[in-house]
Amino acid sequence: MHGLIFVSLRDYLLAAHGAAVEQEVCAGAPAHLVSEAYPDEQFDELLERACESTAHAREVLLREFGVFTAEQTFARLYPDLFNVSPSARAFVLTVERPIHELVRVAMPHARPPELAVSELGERGVSIVYTSPRRMCAFLPGLVEGTASHYGEIAEIEERTCMHRGDSECTFEIRFERKAFRGGVDFSVLRDELSPPTG
Ligand code: HEM
Repeated sequence: MHGLIFVSLRDYLLAAHGAAVEQEVCAGAPAHLVSEAYPDEQFDELLERACESTAHAREVLLREFGVFTAEQTFARLYPDLFNVSPSARAFVLTVERPIHELVRVAMPHARPPELAVSELGERGVSIVYTSPRRMCAFLPGLVEGTASHYGEIAEIEERTCMHRGDSECTFEIRFERKAFRGGVDFSVLRDELSPPTG
């Protein structure tokens, strides 16, 4: 996994859960560089520890982390990639070709997923995800964070999922303009994703 994703995880933990959680999760972990790639197992271990420290399910944490990564990490580091697209839909249509394609060329040890992204009507896109990492919960988070960056809202339906025995995860996404600009409210997202109790 690309060092950038490790750095983003650390930044996310600090911003969303505080310094104590970030230190607890990352204690003993090597300092990851954005110019290197690292074994996936290191990432899985940090994610597992993050779930324990925050008491969040893996899907909830990955989704929140996806929102943060798109809205903060990617948008801050690669403003030009966002500026050339006028909307979240236009941007998402460039994620596989050229963005992930460029990542694969620049760092052969990184293996971004080969997403099949296609237009879905005038406001939507469909995405097929088949990565063996099975980080499908990260994807809708990235889409929501991207939408938020453009002042839009993404309505996301997961039609098929590898975690439910399907051979691929398929998402249907529709974008709408938000009435005002602002970040994603993590507490609302958690309530939506958490199973009902009692
Ligand atoms: C400027 C924008 C983006 C950049 C620079 C970028 C780059 C990257 C990089 C470096 C990784 C780690 C790859 C690896 O280590 O193998 C990654 C992973 C990933 N990206 Fe992107 N990405 C961007 C936007 C997006 C968006 C908007 C989506 C959603 C449609 C997306 C979907 C994913 C997913 C699901 C992964 C997880 C890896 C896996 O499951 O195998 N990315 N991306």
